[in-house]
Amino acid sequence: MDKLIITGGARLDGEIRISGAKNAALPILAATLLADGPVTVGNLPHLHDITTMIELFGRMGIEPVIDEKLAVEIDPRTIKTLVAPYELVKTMRASILVLGPMVARFGEAEVALPGGCAIGSRPVDLHIRGLEAMGAKIEVEGGYIKAKAPEGGLRGAHFFFDTVSVTGTENIMMAAALAKGRSVLQNAAREPEVVDLANFINAMGGNVQGAGTDTIVIDGVERLGSANYRVMPDRIETGTYLVAAAVTGGRVKVKDTDPTILEAVLEKLKEAGADINTGDDWIELDMHGKRPKAVNLRTAPYPAFPTDMQAQFISLNAIAEGTGAVIETIFENRFMHVYEMHRMGAQIQVEGNTAIVTGVKALKGAPVMATDLRASASLVLSALVAEGDTLIDRIYHIDRGYECIEEKLQMLGAKIRRVPG
Ligand code: EPZ
Repeated sequence: MDKLIITGGARLDGEIRISGAKNAALPILAATLLADGPVTVGNLPHLHDITTMIELFGRMGIEPVIDEKLAVEIDPRTIKTLVAPYELVKTMRASILVLGPMVARFGEAEVALPGGCAIGSRPVDLHIRGLEAMGAKIEVEGGYIKAKAPEGGLRGAHFFFDTVSVTGTENIMMAAALAKGRSVLQNAAREPEVVDLANFINAMGGNVQGAGTDTIVIDGVERLGSANYRVMPDRIETGTYLVAAAVTGGRVKVKDTDPTILEAVLEKLKEAGADINTGDDWIELDMHGKRPKAVNLRTAPYPAFPTDMQAQFISLNAIAEGTGAVIETIFENRFMHVYEMHRMGAQIQVEGNTAIVTGVKALKGAPVMATDLRASASLVLSALVAEGDTLIDRIYHIDRGYECIEEKLQMLGAKIRRVPG
C-alpha cells in the first residue's frame, strides 16, 4: 500500500486550485440515472470514489464516456441490470445513492446494504422509510435492499426526517423528482451539496424548490432530459488547505472555490488568529508567521460547523496556544485520528464525544496510520508542522477525498512525497 512521507517544518506559502466537490459529484452522478437521454457532468474531482461510482455504472451496463477534462457523459437508457453489488458498495457507502433514482426511473432496485465504517454504524433506515412513504415495497434480506415501486410508479409523499441526513435527503429528493404528485421533505439537510443536486435535477427539467432550507418541495415530472452540468467546488478540500496554512503559520490563496459555503469554518479560522480575505471564487488566509490560537467548536448540520472539518481542527488545536474543546455530535466514533496523534506527542483527552486538546509547542514526526478519509487528512496536517519525518500508512483513505494531495501541498512548499507500498 502506498505511504506518504512528510518532513515537517516548512511554512506553507502559495496558491492552489480547488477541485469539484466529492459530496456533490456522487449524488449528481447517481441522479443521471433519472434521465431519459445523455447527461454530461463536468468539474468532477479525480478521486477513487468517483471512479468507484463510474465502475458501478459500468457493472450495471451503463458505459460512461469520459472526455479529456474528466467530464462524464452518461446515458442511463443502456442500463442492463438493476443490482448494485456488495463488492462495490462495501468500498463506497455513497453507492446507496443509486437506490432512489433506480426505483423512480426503472421501478425497482437491488442495492447492497452499505456496512458501517470506521466513523460509525451509518444506518440507512431513513432512506428506506422515505421510499416506503412513496409507496415502494422494500425488503432487506441477504445483505441487500430489494425495492419495488408500486403499480403506476412512486407517489409523492410528505416525509419528516427524524435525523438530519445528507444522503437521506438526496436519495428521497431524487426519487420524488419522478414520483406522481408533490413531495414535501421536512427536517431536510441544508448542505450546499443538497442544493447543487437540486439545481442539477432542475437543469434536467425537474421541479425542486426550497433546497438549502429544512423544507424541500418537489413536484414530480413525467420525464427528465439531457443536461450539461458543472459540479460545485469542494468546501471541505478548501477548509483542509486553509488549515494547512494555519498550522504552519503560513499563507495560502485557494482559487475556484466559494467563500459563502464554509462560513462557520472561516469564522473559526479568524478566531484562531488568521487574517482572511475573500473574493467571489477565492479565499486568502495569512497567519503572518504566527502560531494559531486554540478554538472551541461543536459539529452540527449545515450551516453549523461541519463534522468533515473536525479532525483538521484537532490538528490545529494540537499545536495552538491554549486549550480547545472539540465536540462531535454527528458520528459516534470520529476521534480515531486522536490516538494516532498521541504517537506524535499531541496532548488530547477524549471524554465521550468531546476531545480536550492542549496545544504543544511542537509535535514529533512518527509512523502513523490513516483510519478514515478526514482523519488521514488531519495526520497530514500534523505532519506538516511536526519536527522530523512522519510516515503515513493506508493512504488509500486520502485518495478517496483529496485529488493530488501531495502535488497541491508541494506547490505550497511542503516536503511531502508518496512512497509506493
Ligand atoms: C454525508 O454522509 C457525507 N457523505 C459525509 O461525508 C458527511 O460526514 C455526512 O454527510 C455528515 O455531513 C456524502 O455526502 C457522500 P448523514 P451521510 O446521513 O449522508 C444518521 C466525507 O468525509 N442517519 O447526514 O451518510 C447517521 O448515523 C463523508 O466526505 C440515520 O440515523 O451522513 C448520522 O449520525 C464522511 N439514519 C447522522 O444521521 C439514516 O438513514 C448524519 O448522517 C441516515 C443517517
